[in-house]
Amino acid sequence: MGVYSKPVLFAVLSAAVILVGTVVTVFIPMLMPSTQPVSDYVKPYTAVELEGRDLYIREGCNNCHTQTVRPLRTEVLRYGEYSKPEEFAYDRPFLWGSRRTGPDLNRVGGKYPDSWHYKHMQSPQGMFEKSNMPPYGWLAEARLDTRYTRKKISILGYGYSPDEVSAQIEAYKAKVTDAAYESKQSRDEVTPEELRGELTEMDAIIAYMQKLGRDVKNLEAER
Ligand code: HEC
Repeated sequence: MGVYSKPVLFAVLSAAVILVGTVVTVFIPMLMPSTQPVSDYVKPYTAVELEGRDLYIREGCNNCHTQTVRPLRTEVLRYGEYSKPEEFAYDRPFLWGSRRTGPDLNRVGGKYPDSWHYKHMQSPQGMFEKSNMPPYGWLAEARLDTRYTRKKISILGYGYSPDEVSAQIEAYKAKVTDAAYESKQSRDEVTPEELRGELTEMDAIIAYMQKLGRDVKNLEAER
């Protein structure tokens, strides 16, 4: 007979077992530093990169793109070094994704110049005839909204002061609107004249693309 014939006791005991199991496998690891690796080489997103990341979420890019290179030979050959846990320390929420209609983007930073991205976002089919990625040219027709950037950065705890955030926005604006910007021609082709002196949503999403995997590539270059 034993415990099987005593439903209440059985329920209490099984609840206790599940509770202990949950605490041991979920909550204790959650508080252990080794499960939350932070490394100096991974830098938080700058103001413009963070805005680009939010646009990436708004546009649902992660429905077609993953952001994690698995430690498999074929993946490493195709995309580069596989993803490490510490790379996602500043990702809230993470965007690993589960569908690869398009290629993984975790190592796309630095793979192409900005000019490539302006052209590709405007017309993916212009670069790859059979691409089923939708065109996003209208992102260049929208001025980047930076009203909440300071607030977002302080909530995420990236450690930039409000002045640093403003300086980052101004610096990126100065970079892309400069007459000597190396991707000026492509940017001008997709950006309406009245917005060429401003930051657009397209500028931000490209800044974000160029950040993906860059810290890892920089680390490898130093070695
Ligand atoms: C319907 C699925 C789909 C959506 C949504 C989508 N993409 Fe793509 N994307 C693709 C496919 C397929 C490719 C490969 C062909 C190509 O480059 O156009 C691709 C390629 C890319 C590449 C080039 C990657 C490389 O390594 O060559 C980038 C960058 C990119 N997409 C960014 C984005 C961004 C940013 C968004 C959201 C604004 C987005 N994609 C939304 C399907 C998608």
